[in-house]
Amino acid sequence: MNVLIIGSGGREHAIAWKVSQSKLIDNLFIAPGNAGTANVGTNVAIDVKDFEAIKTFVLQNNVNMVVVGPEEPLVRGISDFFANDAQLADIKVIGPSGEGAQLEGSKEYAKQFMQRHNIPTAAYQSFTKETVEAGKQFLATLKAPYVLKADGLAAGKGVLIINDLKEAQDSLEEMLNGQFGAASAKVVIEEFLSGIEVSFFVLTDGKDYVLLPEAKDYKRIGEQDSGPNTGGMGAVSPVPFCTPEFKQKVISRIIEPTIKGINADGIKYTGFVFFGLINCGGDPYVIEYNVRMGDPETEVVIPRLDADLLELFVAASNGELSKVTAKAVNQTAITVVMVSGGYPGDYQKGFAITGTDQKGESIVFHAGTKLNGSDVVTAGGRVLAITSLGNGIQNALDKSYATIEGIKYEGAYFRRDIGQDLKKY
Ligand code: AMP
Ligand code: GLY
Repeated sequence: MNVLIIGSGGREHAIAWKVSQSKLIDNLFIAPGNAGTANVGTNVAIDVKDFEAIKTFVLQNNVNMVVVGPEEPLVRGISDFFANDAQLADIKVIGPSGEGAQLEGSKEYAKQFMQRHNIPTAAYQSFTKETVEAGKQFLATLKAPYVLKADGLAAGKGVLIINDLKEAQDSLEEMLNGQFGAASAKVVIEEFLSGIEVSFFVLTDGKDYVLLPEAKDYKRIGEQDSGPNTGGMGAVSPVPFCTPEFKQKVISRIIEPTIKGINADGIKYTGFVFFGLINCGGDPYVIEYNVRMGDPETEVVIPRLDADLLELFVAASNGELSKVTAKAVNQTAITVVMVSGGYPGDYQKGFAITGTDQKGESIVFHAGTKLNGSDVVTAGGRVLAITSLGNGIQNALDKSYATIEGIKYEGAYFRRDIGQDLKKY
């Protein structure tokens, strides 16, 4: 098979790395990819939003399957673009329809879906400019802290958690006045849930699903979860507080009702569902749905997968997921993300990176890197994700931090406390 993976981050490198090992793969392309994906396939310089250029490439190169990494092309309807084009309709796409992608593209759509299908989540109401005063009054009926979410995609920045009522009311007004552009023309205000977060993932055909390993990520830039949010500074799988009992609750109260809901609503959905959950006193609640894999969660989930990923994608496309399983190795996987100095604020790019090809015990996934001639240089905020498998968290961490010692570029920063909070479980 010829496969095109869309995207350029650590997630796409991890997917490409695994697909390149499949017994079904002939040619693997990544658009646009990064310096790491160039080692496992062929990079193609096409923007993830340029559907016409993707079409031309797919037809010229006899691509049989397109795997969509990030949310933006999904929310923009890339799956429908393929399904509705006579020349592309037979090509398999891993990624939901535009309607399905609304589970991530609109917080209000996701909330209504959860309400309709009795899936546990925080109580909420949504407001627009016309109803701003009602929104302020609604805030006054809630207890602090206040959770305000831009309805649309805001590159992970659209959620504000505020302790002071007046500040929350002012923020509501700012959001509705365009703080996050069109994404915050509508704002969802919801009840604050207190607990520890964990993410679950499935691959589904909209009817059946396979459960993938769960993961916990580390969103803040600073150690002990301090400072601003990032795309993710590290991840761990499995997550020790996910006991079999908790997992069973997640499956019966959240995953199964979600897949049944997708089916009952007639939503076309072949792809991943990422369940961002919070464990409130032993009970799981949905914080958010994403319609793709997480990054850097993929960099720990995929290395634990003891299955042919491309075979799973084929089964999903053919509606045959009930016939396959996704086994996971028992080892612990951790990933530590190395970022550019200054990230998540302003940072410089173009610094030479050395040590990414060392023969160690880790897998060096590339995120914001590119090739400059034969040199690997920094090209984004999150630069590399260093993944290791080990017997327990500390053993895996030791391997990743040893690998990091050998990687150099100007301004490199990473957290040294990934996974430490999980050792008590
Ligand atoms: P989201 O983009 O919806 O995942 O929200 C970003 C982050 O905000 C989440 O990972 C949580 O840490 C936090 N968050 C979102 N909603 C809530 C909530 N209802 N209660 C507590 N924390 C929340
Ligand atoms: N690491 C969080 C995400 O991919 O959304």
